[in-house]
Amino acid sequence: MEVAKVLSEYDLSKLAVATAGSHSALQILHGAKKEGLRTVLIVKKDRYEFYRTFSHFIDSFIIVESWGEVAQREVVEELLALNSVVVPHGSFVEYVGAERMLRYPVPIFGSRKILMWESDQRKKMELLRSAGIRVPKEFSSPDEVDRLVIVKLGGAKGGRGYFLARTPEEVKRGLERLGSPENYIIQEYVVGVPAYYHLFNSPIYGRLEITGMDIRYESNVDGLRRLPPEYAKEISPTFTVVGNIPMVLRESLLIKVFEYGRSFVRATEELVGEEIVGPFCLESIITEEGEIVVFEFSGRIVAGTNVYVHGSPYSWLYWDEPMSAGRRIAREIRKARDRGRLEEVLR
Ligand SMILES: Nc1ncnc2c1ncn2[C@@H]1O[C@H](COP(=O)(O)OP(=O)(O)O)[C@@H](O)[C@H]1O
Ligand SMILES: [Mg+2]
Repeated sequence: MEVAKVLSEYDLSKLAVATAGSHSALQILHGAKKEGLRTVLIVKKDRYEFYRTFSHFIDSFIIVESWGEVAQREVVEELLALNSVVVPHGSFVEYVGAERMLRYPVPIFGSRKILMWESDQRKKMELLRSAGIRVPKEFSSPDEVDRLVIVKLGGAKGGRGYFLARTPEEVKRGLERLGSPENYIIQEYVVGVPAYYHLFNSPIYGRLEITGMDIRYESNVDGLRRLPPEYAKEISPTFTVVGNIPMVLRESLLIKVFEYGRSFVRATEELVGEEIVGPFCLESIITEEGEIVVFEFSGRIVAGTNVYVHGSPYSWLYWDEPMSAGRRIAREIRKARDRGRLEEVLR
């Protein structure tokens, strides 16, 4: 898709931000409205009653029977007729598929290619490694396992099916139980506390911003500490995300996060072939030595930003006004439009 060509047919004074009704859609559209852009929500019929209660910041609804329709012609034509820029969140990418996102015929905010890298567990870790970011040790076969590991299946599964193991046999048994999947990685399980950093790379302001951070609240691993140890030790931890908790970091650690963010941006330019634009997230465990070990990234807005609809302690420092990640995206789009630089932030 040629962004320039599509944009030449748009009425840019009516530019709209569009996304699908899930994940971080409310925040994205709320922010777009605050920036004076139009807003479009693709929504599944059974969710319409809910999203309709936010009509004060949603201008148009495109109602679908199933999420499969997001990539179909009728929806695409409507998006184009409404002068839309798509903001892809995790669920949007899941509905369309990372591969098909490359050809999705509506301009999207951010990078398309990074979504492909994100969907492949091995490429994902390769990108982090080549950025010089510290990552957990990886085992290329179950037979090499000599410590506590986490086995992760491919695709954006929200931690579903991941399991812990300590020996080659435990890894093999676990994989068999899951029907011997092919796309998986075996990672050292890093002990410490989790911290997930929300970053934003801005071509328009020429800077990298830390927009916030969160802790994932995962079932049942975060519930195990509510049990006396003698009961907890009987239960295998699982990692299904159910919500997010806000956090701030020791200020001295922020500098490392910022450095990691900058190296990541550079690595996308070198390996992916296009610099990441807009929001992304580095997910880490901080060890007792204060070492930040990054075990994955998201190359788009993450749902953890939903805890900061009114802005985070960090976004306040940049903006002195309430600035959600959704609004930050819209600010970038609006400024790019006003300065004739839309092609730098859209793909
Ligand atoms: N190497 C690791 N060490 C410790 N915990 C981990 C590690 N990798 C993942 N986790 C835990 O598992 C969860 C899900 O893993 P993640 O790689 O983020 O998968 P997803 O794609 O489902 O988000 C994380 O949020 C974290 O709690
Ligand atoms: Mg994750």
